[in-house]
Amino acid sequence: MYRTHTCNQLRLQDVQQEATLSGWVQRVRNFGGMTFIDLRDRYGITQLYFDLDLDAALCEHARALVRESVIQVRGRVRERSSKNPNLPTGDIELVAKSVKVLSPSATPPFTIEDQTDGGEELRLKYRYLDLRRKPSQDALLLRHRMAKAARDFLDANDFIEVETPVLIKSTPEGARDFVVPSRLNPGQFYALPQSPQVFKQLLMVAGYDRYFQIVKCFRDESFRSDRQPEFTQIDCEMSFVEQEDVLNMFEGLAKHLFKQIKNIEYNEPFPRMSFAEAMRLYGNDRPDIRFGMTFVELTQQAKGKGFPVFDAAGLIVGINAKGCGEFTRKQLDELTKFVQRPQVGAKGLVHVKCNADGSFKSSVDKFYSQDDLAAWAKAFEAQPGDLLLVLAGEDAATRKALSELRLEMGNQLGLRPADTFAPLWVVDFPLLEWDAETQRFHAMHHPFTAPKPEDAHLLDTDPGKVRANAYDLVINGSEIGGGSVRIFDSELQAKMFKVLGFSDQQAQEQFGFLMNAFRYGAPPHAGAAFGFDRWVSIFGGYDSIRDVIAFPKNNTGRDLMMDSPSPIAQEQLDELHILFNKLDNK
Ligand code: AMO
Repeated sequence: MYRTHTCNQLRLQDVQQEATLSGWVQRVRNFGGMTFIDLRDRYGITQLYFDLDLDAALCEHARALVRESVIQVRGRVRERSSKNPNLPTGDIELVAKSVKVLSPSATPPFTIEDQTDGGEELRLKYRYLDLRRKPSQDALLLRHRMAKAARDFLDANDFIEVETPVLIKSTPEGARDFVVPSRLNPGQFYALPQSPQVFKQLLMVAGYDRYFQIVKCFRDESFRSDRQPEFTQIDCEMSFVEQEDVLNMFEGLAKHLFKQIKNIEYNEPFPRMSFAEAMRLYGNDRPDIRFGMTFVELTQQAKGKGFPVFDAAGLIVGINAKGCGEFTRKQLDELTKFVQRPQVGAKGLVHVKCNADGSFKSSVDKFYSQDDLAAWAKAFEAQPGDLLLVLAGEDAATRKALSELRLEMGNQLGLRPADTFAPLWVVDFPLLEWDAETQRFHAMHHPFTAPKPEDAHLLDTDPGKVRANAYDLVINGSEIGGGSVRIFDSELQAKMFKVLGFSDQQAQEQFGFLMNAFRYGAPPHAGAAFGFDRWVSIFGGYDSIRDVIAFPKNNTGRDLMMDSPSPIAQEQLDELHILFNKLDNK
């Protein structure tokens, strides 16, 4: 028997009992005649005691143990003279009678402590050591509990979990596919699913009615802290439902998770906001509504006063940073630098300080009188002591930049605490998005999304105006999930592909199987998928989804532990009939 107890089991009532523990050496502390070792396993820590007078050889042996070695210890439980109230086992210690090293450890490259000295790259390289740390364990445990709670909820609501294939044909969801060459079909490739979208729709055609899957998805996208090339979705689909049914069901799932995991009860329905309103008030289709600071437009009011930047702008829009009227020159310069960063993309920042005496001091005093600025302040409902921050330029870019500035101000003012949650549904997304580069429409969600019936007639005349029955679940400014009501009619689906610029032949080649399936009795259906990694990281208050993934990739998509991707042997390439053209810079 390797152990009679875990390292978090022994208590005062076990005093005098013999016990055997196995675990990792967390710390060795020498105090002359006495040596203490903290023995750690997944469950906790138990203190081991070695006495030089009782057994000198054993004590010497203990002193020499390298941290992170795996040992087995036999001994007797006794009450501690100095107790540790911070440890569940802190009332007792195990007086060791024998120690066996099961597996010695080399000196670890960083300390296995909550606050470690290891940088992120090093910890990713030795991820199995990083995973020994309590914060990592907490993250994986939270992830497990959330998956279990989600399964319980979905199971109780008649959803069944069905696995779908990983080697598939490319399905467009907006990102690039990862592809896998086929040895048996030279020159042909599988694609890894960006999501099981078409399979879940086919399961509806097959009559399965309520499907879910906690499933890996693969997207070759550029890096962000909330993106990984492989990530996990709670993927769901339902038949004989309308948008309202789906929103209610998955709001139920969200509320269940909030209750089970965070012990937060939502008695009211989640707020809903249209895409148009989200863009108008927050410049963003995933607004963080933990705080206000909504956009106020000044386009009409501020033009025509001789300030060239504003006169040339399509949109002039700002926010009221309440109580920031005392910001220093330096703070304002930093905000200007912030909005000028390439990721934010504004040219400059106009500010107006609302002084305590009712006057105004702005960076555009040359062009705007005190009366003009008073009228702005009125539009912002500003009080003395407030600071107005205004951007101008092309509509979409200016909204995006102000949205970034709003979030930055929210951070600076402490308005975005990790333990406060503000869920909402964003609804009524446009069906299509114009891509100026390729001069064609893209599906805003995906090509299987149904137009709103009342807008469908615009598909022929003004496709950009068509709204979709599509929705996103947003929590704290993060898109946690999204879905839509689907097209279930082969003709409408064919028309959609046409609007998206597919020729009949291309549509047939890529999606013939789906349109064909719709010819054999397809139920009305709709669904959604939730970014599980994102959801866990928000619930756990982590900065990046990497923290809640057991073996994540770094920000260039590399697995630093396995050193992957990596070259493969020439024989493997030959078998796959792959010949390299030329590798850039190699
Ligand atoms: P969508 O593309 O919106 O919808 O994806 C659903 C959710 O998955 C998460 N997500 C990601 N998480 C981590 N890394 C990524 N690279 C990544 N990409 C997406 C987001 C997102 O909201 N098939 C449709 C769903 C449907 O229509 O039912 C789909 O995949 O949280």
